[in-house]
Amino acid sequence: MTHSVLASDLSPKEKYFYLIGGIGPRPIAFVSTISRDEIPNLAPFSFFNAFSSNPPVVIFSPARSSNPEKPFKDTYTNLVETKECVVQMVSYEMREQMKLCAQDLDADINEFDISGLTQIPSDIVKAPRVKESPFQMECKLLEMKQLGDQPGAGNLAICEVLKFHVDESVFKPGSQRIDPQAIDLIGRNGEHYYTRASGDAIFEI
Ligand SMILES: Cc1cc2nc3c(=O)[nH]c(=O)nc-3n(C[C@H](O)[C@H](O)[C@H](O)COP(=O)(O)O)c2cc1C
Repeated sequence: MTHSVLASDLSPKEKYFYLIGGIGPRPIAFVSTISRDEIPNLAPFSFFNAFSSNPPVVIFSPARSSNPEKPFKDTYTNLVETKECVVQMVSYEMREQMKLCAQDLDADINEFDISGLTQIPSDIVKAPRVKESPFQMECKLLEMKQLGDQPGAGNLAICEVLKFHVDESVFKPGSQRIDPQAIDLIGRNGEHYYTRASGDAIFEI
């Protein structure tokens, strides 16, 4: 039996749980930005992917929150104000520190301090990088596209990658192709479930 339902008959929560449970595992953009007051910010976003390789473009979505006092996440505000960010990928080793950065914290709190992750300068953008991430992309914001004005509405942060930083230890020997076993990324499934994209989870076709 198939359960079929019109999206318009679902509550916002039901739509959210169908999407995050049914579409997965999703890659996680671990996004660092810097505020106008130069306070760094770091947060994970799994409504994320790459959409163009030439030019290289990634999109992630810091959604509208249900808090009427603060409808926009710090990442959204910083990006709109500074037009820059670093998008880095999350390895299995970084999983607990990544989760610590998903707390709803005041804008004056630096998630690098909360998580213990190491803040290192970028080459082109002002936002710092996460040293522990094996794959980092310095980006400029091309466009922020709002998809609605209700809680849960996505805001597409369309970003062009200006510079890649890849930990050489994740390259296959003698090449610059990335070995999935070495980069050992995690993805997000529904609720509190995650996928570790290495070991037996990897196969070739
Ligand atoms: C793995 C993971 C994925 C997440 N993906 C999203 C997402 O795609 N969009 C979103 O708005 N929030 C997402 N969140 C929640 C944000 O990380 C959280 O609201 C965070 O506090 C936002 O931080 P900021 O206000 O510093 O930008 C996710 C959380 C986790 C743990």
